[in-house]
Amino acid sequence: MTGKTEKLRSHRWLGVEDLRAFGHRSRLRQAGFDAKDWQGKPVIGIINTWSDLNPCHGHLRARAEDVKRGVLQAGGFPVELPAMSLGEIFVKPTTMLYRNLLAMETEELLRSHPIDGAVLMGGCDKTTPGLIMGAISMGIPFIYVPAGPMLRGNWRGEYLGSGSDVWKYWTEKRAGNLGDAEWSEIEGGIARSFGTCMVMGTAATMMAIAEALGLALPGASSIPAVDSNHPRMCSLAGRRIVEMVWEDLVPGKIMTCAAFDNAIRVHMAMGGSTNAIIHVIAMARRAGIALTMDRFDQLSREVPVIANVRPSGKYLMEDFFYAGGLRALMQNLREVLDLDCLTVTGQSIGANIAGARVYLPDVIRSLNDPVYPGGATAVLKGNLAPNGCVIKPSAADPRLLKHRGQAIAFEDYNHMLREIEREDLDVTPDHVLVLKNSGPKGGPGMPEWGMLPIPRRLLARGVRDMIRISDARMSGTSYGACILHVAPESFVGGPLALVQTGDEIEVDVPARRIHLHVSEEELARRRARWTPPAARYPRGYGALYSAHIGQADEGCDFDFLGPHGVVPEPEIH
Ligand code: FES
Repeated sequence: MTGKTEKLRSHRWLGVEDLRAFGHRSRLRQAGFDAKDWQGKPVIGIINTWSDLNPCHGHLRARAEDVKRGVLQAGGFPVELPAMSLGEIFVKPTTMLYRNLLAMETEELLRSHPIDGAVLMGGCDKTTPGLIMGAISMGIPFIYVPAGPMLRGNWRGEYLGSGSDVWKYWTEKRAGNLGDAEWSEIEGGIARSFGTCMVMGTAATMMAIAEALGLALPGASSIPAVDSNHPRMCSLAGRRIVEMVWEDLVPGKIMTCAAFDNAIRVHMAMGGSTNAIIHVIAMARRAGIALTMDRFDQLSREVPVIANVRPSGKYLMEDFFYAGGLRALMQNLREVLDLDCLTVTGQSIGANIAGARVYLPDVIRSLNDPVYPGGATAVLKGNLAPNGCVIKPSAADPRLLKHRGQAIAFEDYNHMLREIEREDLDVTPDHVLVLKNSGPKGGPGMPEWGMLPIPRRLLARGVRDMIRISDARMSGTSYGACILHVAPESFVGGPLALVQTGDEIEVDVPARRIHLHVSEEELARRRARWTPPAARYPRGYGALYSAHIGQADEGCDFDFLGPHGVVPEPEIH
């Protein structure tokens, strides 16, 4: 399949006879290439988020070579462009502070170079939305290559799940039920290969959402990182992106309202991470689609959780792959999906999942036999969160889904950490823990502090869940009755800022309601006394971030990165 070479974006750099093109060609020759390498061929930019400090992407350096192999086979010219890696574990204060920076880097890498189509290589939490947001804004054909999950963890014959089992066993260690030797063994067994976290955390959720949107090859998101299917998928992606360039299969043709509805339905069926709400809203807005949290709540009432994967279920992503993977899950969702949506294959979602089957029916359940009958994510509103907040009911103790209790309010994360360890903290299992100043501006970067630790005093009594409310996020590997993303956040004067210890808070998940039982007059008095905290960053990226970041219900994008019109192509002279 070929097209008009003159229409390629890269033609302006390489195909014309002027002084600048001479410079570009001579420098490609400097790199060891010759005209045969690029003449008449689409230039494919491989945006690779590999780094030594991101073991989730440890295999992507080798996998880029597989992508290149495919590009060459299809008659393209592959070039690899490294981008910031955003390894969830090592990047501080939080990778969310840098998601938009990766999005900007991706967009500008593609714009400023002679690139006709892109392969995006990522998977660790924020890399998927960061890469995709930037590529949507650039608007050239792209295909997303998910890093894939790591193997199951193992400890004394027991399967361990990333994050989820860390929280679980850390709690047992704090309660005095686990010794140092056992803890060290778990440390050595919980992450056994390259690849992303292998529970249904943010990484697995976002990789699957990208595939459900039609941005990855069918089945790609479920392949374990070390499985030989993975390099084969990479080279296929390399072949396919060359065809996509000739077909002018730009993201605008794929990313429709119906495609986002499909992605949200898949998210609900998987019991996906609450973080996905923020990222999907941000991606949709980049695509010019005004998606709101209300749509998540609507669709969550229609689609039960059918993926029996931790933290909502029992198994791990490796099992999910053996059970048939995302194609099989989508096959079980056929009746609620729009099967006509176009994908990177040039075929519809319906065609992509044709023939897929579930092989392990306890891992991927049917709509009639769900893991959890309600939706994975509920959006609550009320005077404490006028613009909304979220909870993952499937990962919470059911008794807490309708609850009224007295607040214990923490002004910030450090305050909370000090108090939570106090043996004399006046707390019962019915109290409601409230953490302030942990949102997009207050964190800053909305850190994953939303699964507040159970107070030490209650741990000893066997308490393992209670209502916790914050404007923070929580890891997709976390669990518990944690109410997150309260918007507007406390740092900008949202009602959460006004909560005091002793206030009554009512949560009613079935009614989607959250209410602070304090009179309007008293709230007005507190608001009049409230003073905004000082800005955290006097200069640099942090200052830019704080000045322009949006709230959680808007996807936490920068105000200047939304779809405000077309950025001109760079002048070449
Ligand atoms: Fe990378 Fe979890 S730390 S996916």
